[in-house]
Amino acid sequence: MDKNSVYETNSFYWDTKGNEYLGAIVLPFYGAFVSEEKCQLFGDVSGKKMLEIGCGNGQSLQYHGEHKASELWAVDISEKQIKKAAQHLKACGLSAKLICSPMEEECGMPVDYFDFVYSIYAIGWTTDLEGTFRRIASYLKKDGVFIFSWSHPIHRCVAAENNRLTFKKCYFDESWYSISLDEGVITLSDRKLSTYVNALAKAGFVIEQMIEQSDDEIMRDDNSEFAQRAKMLPVTFVIKARKL
Ligand SMILES: C[S@@+](CC[C@H](N)C(=O)[O-])C[C@H]1O[C@@H](n2cnc3c(N)ncnc32)[C@H](O)[C@@H]1O
Repeated sequence: MDKNSVYETNSFYWDTKGNEYLGAIVLPFYGAFVSEEKCQLFGDVSGKKMLEIGCGNGQSLQYHGEHKASELWAVDISEKQIKKAAQHLKACGLSAKLICSPMEEECGMPVDYFDFVYSIYAIGWTTDLEGTFRRIASYLKKDGVFIFSWSHPIHRCVAAENNRLTFKKCYFDESWYSISLDEGVITLSDRKLSTYVNALAKAGFVIEQMIEQSDDEIMRDDNSEFAQRAKMLPVTFVIKARKL
């Protein structure tokens, strides 16, 4: 995997096709069928300094701004997303410091500064999970909290066929691949849960909570194939970890 070519492919996608549909995965939702309103992982953020990794169009920052966070910061690889986020937050009367950079790279972010670093369906795009977690740990104050959500790796391995779930991919396979999405192309790798857990431990985090339960209430009126699948296995996972 050549990280510069991954940056190029993925930032192009998020600048173009991906730029059009974003907004779907924003707080209070961590992803499909998991909500902050129910899980309460952040608790009271009033007066807290927040950094979002992969902020998309800024709606999760808006959520924290409306809950009285004192500072809103973010990094995102896509110039277009950063522009959209800046416009959106300005329209909401909120100010934020937004940096356009891959999360993997040095980007001038302050260290030992934030109460919370969080990421809603963006962390899995990193080409260097351990390096990214080390950077995130450096941005946090001691005892600061890191919360992130991503697609559950088991969900990436199964396909629904004739009302049955069948394995289409090996859970252990973390190799990089490119796929077409909304007429664009993205490059990514599906990591095992243990890869996330071990990378957190190596970067100096202790895990306080992990969520891999689909919320029955959110799924109640949803009869889609996706909701059927979410009744049988987790489609989203969320981890809350604390910097030691
Ligand atoms: C699925 S979106 C999630 C964003 C946000 N939760 C939303 O729905 O608006 C993923 C975001 O991660 C950003 N991204 C992808 N790869 C990245 C990288 N290596 N470093 C920083 N941001 C990245 C994309 O530009 C995109 O805005």
